[in-house]
Amino acid sequence: MTDVRSVLVVGATGVVGGLAAQLLADRGASLALAGRDPARLEDRSRRLNGCPVASFEAYDLERCTTLAPWAAGELGGLDAVVVTVGVAGFGPAKDVTNAAAEHLMTVNALAPMAVVRGALRVLRPAGTVAVVTGAIVDRPMRGTADYAAAKTALATWLRVARREQLGYGITVMDVRLPHLDTGFADRAVIGSAPAMAPGADPATEVDRLLVTPVLSPVLI
Ligand SMILES: NC(=O)c1ccc[n+]([C@@H]2O[C@H](COP(=O)([O-])OP(=O)(O)OC[C@H]3O[C@@H](n4cnc5c(N)ncnc54)[C@H](OP(=O)(O)O)[C@@H]3O)[C@@H](O)[C@H]2O)c1
Repeated sequence: MTDVRSVLVVGATGVVGGLAAQLLADRGASLALAGRDPARLEDRSRRLNGCPVASFEAYDLERCTTLAPWAAGELGGLDAVVVTVGVAGFGPAKDVTNAAAEHLMTVNALAPMAVVRGALRVLRPAGTVAVVTGAIVDRPMRGTADYAAAKTALATWLRVARREQLGYGITVMDVRLPHLDTGFADRAVIGSAPAMAPGADPATEVDRLLVTPVLSPVLI
C-alpha cells in the first residue's frame, strides 16, 4: 500500500468533493482544497484544521493547471489529486443551446483535463490522480447527449493518460460513480433530469469507489 500523505481535492465545495475531503482527512491525509466559491471553501477549510485553499473558475483553464503545483508548494509535495468538478445538463440533443453545450464540455471535460495536466507535472513518484466521470459513460441515457459526451471525452482522455503514465508509476483513475443522492441533477445548467430511481448513498459510494482506491491504488 502506498503511503498517501498529501492530497489536493478539486471541487471540494461540492457534495462528493466535500465527502472525499472529510474521509481523506479522517484517515490522516494532509489536504489542500480547491473550489469555486471562496466563502464555502473557507468554511470547509475551518472544518479540516484550516487546510490551505485556492479558488478557481472552470472556464479559466490556465488557472486549473496551476492548482496541483500550488498544492505541492503548500503541502511540501503531492501524492494524490482528486477531481470532482462537474455540472449536469439535460434535454434532447436538438434543443440544447450551444452556450450550454460549451459550458458542459468545459466544466466536465476541459477543466478536469487541465487540472490533471498540472498534476502529472508535479506528483511524487507512485502518485495518483482520481477523476470522477460517472456510470453515464457506460450507459448514456436519452436527454443527456452533451453531458454524456463530455464525461466520455474525459474518460477517453484519462485512458490515454493512464497508458502514457505506466512507465512512471503514476496511477490515473477514472471513477465511474453511480447515480447518487446529492441533488446534482437539480443544479443542472440546462433542462431537467429524466425520471430516475433514487440515488445511492453518497458517503458509502465515495468511500468505496474514490477514497479507498486513492489510499491504496493498484498500478494497472
Ligand atoms: N451526484 C451524482 O449522482 C453523480 C453521479 C456520477 C457522477 N457524478 C459526478 O460527481 C461529481 C460531483 O458531483 P456532486 O454530486 O458532488 O455535485 P455538486 O455538489 O454539484 O458538485 C459539483 C462541483 O463542481 C463545481 N463546479 C461546478 N461548476 C463549476 C465551475 N464553473 N467552476 C468551478 N467549479 C465548478 C461545484 O462548485 P460549486 O460548489 O461552487 O457549485 C462543485 O464543487 C461531478 O463531476 C458529477 O458529474 C455525480
